[in-house]
Amino acid sequence: MNQVGNLLLLPGDGIGPEVMGEVERVIGWLGDRQGMKFECERDLVGGSALDAHGLPLAESTLGLAKAADAVVFGAVGGPQYDANPFHLKPEQGLLQLRKELDLFANLRPAMVFPALAEASSLKKELVEGLDILILRELTGGVYFGEPRGIETLPDGTKRAVDTQVYTTPEIRRIAAVGFELAKKRRNHVTSVEKANVMHTGVLWREEVTKLHAEAFQDVELAHMYADNCAMQLVRRPKQFDVIVTDNLFGDLLSDAAAMLTGSLGMLPSASLGAPDQAGRRKALYEPVHGSAPDIAGQGKANPLAMLLSFAMTLRYSFDLGLEADRLEKAIASVLDQGYRTPDIMQPGMREVSTTAMGQAVLDILDASLG
Ligand code: IPM
Ligand code: MG
Repeated sequence: MNQVGNLLLLPGDGIGPEVMGEVERVIGWLGDRQGMKFECERDLVGGSALDAHGLPLAESTLGLAKAADAVVFGAVGGPQYDANPFHLKPEQGLLQLRKELDLFANLRPAMVFPALAEASSLKKELVEGLDILILRELTGGVYFGEPRGIETLPDGTKRAVDTQVYTTPEIRRIAAVGFELAKKRRNHVTSVEKANVMHTGVLWREEVTKLHAEAFQDVELAHMYADNCAMQLVRRPKQFDVIVTDNLFGDLLSDAAAMLTGSLGMLPSASLGAPDQAGRRKALYEPVHGSAPDIAGQGKANPLAMLLSFAMTLRYSFDLGLEADRLEKAIASVLDQGYRTPDIMQPGMREVSTTAMGQAVLDILDASLG
């Protein structure tokens, strides 16, 4: 048995545990059928961690995350925590992991599987063959900027503040990842900000332009305002290759891009840190969809974004490109064969549960070994 590495599995809340269950079955399959053994730890995060020990991310869990080769993350959140103060919201578990592991580069590929081109809310010809990558800065900007908070003014009304802040190194390191990724794709980067109204946007555009001139002149670079980008994504999405943008714009634009692919249930993501001396990056992999409490526990969740996130784990953290390709191809095949969870159900297709979808993927993986 070949020891590949160790994983921390954090299923989280809502549909998180259900979709993670399907990843665990693929991990089991890799061990049994491919002799690839992953050491797996499991722990709580988000609402489940709050329920168990009053914090969305326990210190011990953070320790496990730092020690792991990769963190595989489900989803966090639920309506029962809506009234919690900020630091006790489930989402803080995820934000702390991103910040503490310095996972500044968030890769959100939006690809349309041929079998799902009809499921998009856009016309088929607009999305057929779509393959774009949103690269979201993940540890800066308005998500973490200080000062932040809500204060009560002398007249009893309140005042809320969030701070959008970016520095030269923060912009340069995410832009560099964008240019590097573009070189392995179609060699085009669209840098997105609001330089027409925001100082952070002005600096963003300046720094990206400078870095491009210094080190990446061979990559095509375009600049676009974020509002225009939102519009272009639903108008003519295939014009893009890599979109590099800040934390908040990336959050918004990646949800829009996800829907182009037919369902939020289809979009994976990888959050990566800077390479260390041995070239290894801290990494967390999660589906872009949330915890979907309305369908939790009913076997309706689409596990494919989670499984695609695990394919990214194999590719980016363990250099197992062949195995990642095999898993992605298996997912494309189950869609070709008509398997659909309710979120991507179309007339004439076969509606299946979370586990039946996972099983269909495993069956194809088995068949692929001959
Ligand atoms: C995402 C989510 C998170 C975010 C939430 C859960 C904090 O929407 O990963 O896109 O806003 O970053
Ligand atoms: Mg989001």
